[in-house]
Amino acid sequence: MDEFVFARVLHVLGVVLWIGGVAMVTTVLLPTLLRMQSATEAMVFFDNFRRRFAAQARYSTLFVGLSGFYMTHVLDAWYRFTQWQYWWMHTMVLIWLLFTIMLFVLEPRARRRQSTSTHKNVSAQSFVKILRMHRILLGLSLITVAGAVAGSHGWLIGGGLS
Ligand code: HEM
Repeated sequence: MDEFVFARVLHVLGVVLWIGGVAMVTTVLLPTLLRMQSATEAMVFFDNFRRRFAAQARYSTLFVGLSGFYMTHVLDAWYRFTQWQYWWMHTMVLIWLLFTIMLFVLEPRARRRQSTSTHKNVSAQSFVKILRMHRILLGLSLITVAGAVAGSHGWLIGGGLS
C-alpha cells in the first residue's frame, strides 16, 4: 500500500508542476506577450520560454503517466474506462495523450523547423490563436483535476462509490 501512496504523491506533484506551468503561461505570459509592440520579438521570447518549459513538462508527463497507469493496475480499475461515471479517468488519459504528442512529437519537430527559418510571418493574431488553444487545454485540465479529486475520494455522479 505504501507504494500506492508514493505513486499518488508522485502523480499529484507531477500534475502540479505541469498544469501549474500551463496555467501560468495561459493567464500571465501569453496575455503579456500579446501586448508587446513587436510580435516577432514576442515570438522569439516565447520560443525560448517554451523550450525550457517543454523540458520540465516532459519529465512531469512521464511521472504522471507512469504513476497513473501503476495506480490503475494496483486498483484493478481498468473497468472504469467502460463506465461514464468515471469520465475523469478518460479525460486524464486524453489530456496526457494530447500533451505527450505535443511534447514528444510536435515540439521537437517545430524546433527543428525553427532552426532553418526565422519568424517572418508572425503577427498578434498568431498569439491570439496560441492563447485560445492554451485556454481550452487549461479549462479541460482544471475540470479533470476537479473531477479526479472528487471521484477518487468517492464523490461520483449518480452517487456510486469509487
Ligand atoms: C495516463 C494518464 C493518467 C492515468 C492512467 C491516471 C490515473 C489515475 C488514477 C488511477 C488515480 C487514482 C484514482 C483513485 O484513487 O480512485 C488518479 C488520480 C488523480 N489524477 Fe490521474 N491519471 C492520469 C493522468 C492525469 C492527468 C493528466 C491529470 C491532471 C490533469 C491527473 C490528475 C489526477 C488527480 C488530481 C488525481 C486525484 C489525486 C487525489 O486526490 O488523491 N491525472 N489518476
